[in-house]
Amino acid sequence: MEIEITHPAVNEYLHALLPERDPILQEMETLARERNIPIIGPVVGRILYQLVRLAKAKTIFEMGSAIGYSTLWIARGAGEGSAVYYTDSDPENARQAERFLERSGVRDRVQILIGDAIELLDQTPGTFDVIFNDVDKEQYPQVFHKAIPRLRKGGLFLADNVLWSGRVVQPPQDQNAATRGIVEFNRLIYSSPELYPTILPIRDGFAVCEKVK
Ligand SMILES: C[S@@+](CC[C@H](N)C(=O)[O-])C[C@H]1O[C@@H](n2cnc3c(N)ncnc32)[C@H](O)[C@@H]1O
Repeated sequence: MEIEITHPAVNEYLHALLPERDPILQEMETLARERNIPIIGPVVGRILYQLVRLAKAKTIFEMGSAIGYSTLWIARGAGEGSAVYYTDSDPENARQAERFLERSGVRDRVQILIGDAIELLDQTPGTFDVIFNDVDKEQYPQVFHKAIPRLRKGGLFLADNVLWSGRVVQPPQDQNAATRGIVEFNRLIYSSPELYPTILPIRDGFAVCEKVK
């Protein structure tokens, strides 16, 4: 079972409303389309940018950054003097991301870390204003347990793909490990006394959680 969360015509309408992206974001979008790299895309990119600005976030840890598309939206939102952590297990992704971030003029505010994002979070000291989770979906519950203690009070915990093309409503016996990971993650964020979560049913579902305790 796979469905589009927003009706395709509404999706098309939302995209048509968007202002044209700058040439580097456009190049990344084309590369992602051609190579089948799953990026958040411009509708969610704008949400990330906006939330980072509204939260006045200066330290952001991103888990699963691929070619740096979401990283670029975050780094622009966070502005000069911020510290944005890029993480990905694939060194080739990191090389591509580094080139894009360099060309965009935000390289100096991004730390590029290669390896397992959960281990890298463990190895990086400090607390963060925003943590954005976009790793393999089986790992989402583990990310929840690791990330929340590393977020400052009032900080934001964000996650992509939390409606997983509608597979979250499959009967449990039909769910694979990725779907089970997302379903458990959603249960965890909504039952945590530390979080105030909302799932935005945009694109593939985007979770916005404020750390309230
Ligand atoms: C959905 S893509 C990220 C897209 C990116 N956030 C964007 O929107 O532009 C997921 C990426 O996470 C990486 N990844 C998955 N699990 C990971 C993990 N545990 N640690 C580090 N990277 C991981 C994959 O290599 C892949 O590039």
